[in-house]
Amino acid sequence: QPRVFSGIQPSGGLTLGNYLGAIRRFVDTQNANRDSGIETIYCMVDQHAITVWQDPAALTRNTRELAAGYIAAGLDPAKSILFNQSQVAEHAQLAWIFNCVARMGWMQRMTQWKDKAGKNSQNASLGLFAYPALMAADILIYHATHVPVGEDQKQHVELTRDIAAKFNHDFGVDFFPLTEPVIEGAATRVMSLRDGSKKMSKSDPSDASRINMTDDADTIAQKFRKAKTDPDALPSEAAGLEGRPEARNLVNIYAALNDQSVDEVLRDVGGRQFSEFKPMLSDLAVAKLSPISGEMARLMQAPDEIDAILRSGADRARVMAAPILKRTYEIVGMVS
Ligand code: TYM
Repeated sequence: QPRVFSGIQPSGGLTLGNYLGAIRRFVDTQNANRDSGIETIYCMVDQHAITVWQDPAALTRNTRELAAGYIAAGLDPAKSILFNQSQVAEHAQLAWIFNCVARMGWMQRMTQWKDKAGKNSQNASLGLFAYPALMAADILIYHATHVPVGEDQKQHVELTRDIAAKFNHDFGVDFFPLTEPVIEGAATRVMSLRDGSKKMSKSDPSDASRINMTDDADTIAQKFRKAKTDPDALPSEAAGLEGRPEARNLVNIYAALNDQSVDEVLRDVGGRQFSEFKPMLSDLAVAKLSPISGEMARLMQAPDEIDAILRSGADRARVMAAPILKRTYEIVGMVS
């Protein structure tokens, strides 16, 4: 039986990259599966967030804001299970088992570890190193088969398969499924507006590098106006974006926001200058994002309602997770 799981870290505000690469895919997946009985489970991974320092008050606020973003973008607590990771202790419990299955060398190869730990890895938290084992536990504690993510998480989902395969092999069972990453759409890797070789990220020190889901219309317009581009006009087909990462990024964003393919967009805007295209892009982004940010702001007025939604989601999640943890403990030989 297919089952869908994904998560986002409440480690800062939501970006357009999170929206196009992840949340919109979550909503589409939820809606495509609404009558199929396939569960869609979406988490705020607060335990992943604290692998780097988080101010406690900011963590609380960011978790609620992320939940508000999920709901405002169209995730429906009646159709999907929404909760935060620390509410379902089984994630961390399975992660311990996976810490003992995964190998140090596997973790050392993770590009996100290398990027985040940097040169001073002796000073990184142990949690940051073990991060992918917790992510594997998030997914496998539900026996999830499909994980919608942006391109940057592909390596972690592949590691999840390695952990599942090694567990199954070591214990001679066929227990954990080999999960598939689902990386789809025109915006699986949204790039920084200031540097077409870096991904758009909530942790980039430059706010001008990203569109935040909470940015107002003027801010969005200004960020796109200042976005780095080259001096040429837009090409009329996708091949013409070769070697033009900034141009490609803006066209990808437009295509994803407008539910079009890149070729369809270029058929309409090919030959235009960026001075013409950027205002079109801003108008489209504002039209698509402002209803969501308005709804987020409204939901944030009622944090108790958000918390109640997460608590009831966690109750449903625990019902699925508990028997899988119990069976895992039996397989490992733990006396209960
Ligand atoms: P995180 O919080 O960095 O990002 C959340 C989701 O947003 C996607 N994303 C992007 N997509 C396109 N362009 C971008 N610039 C961009 N930036 C972020 C990410 O690919 C991701 O899908 N380790 C995960 C969180 C996690 C998780 C999980 C995901 C924990 N457990 C289990 C799936 C399943 C992370 O740090 O994502």
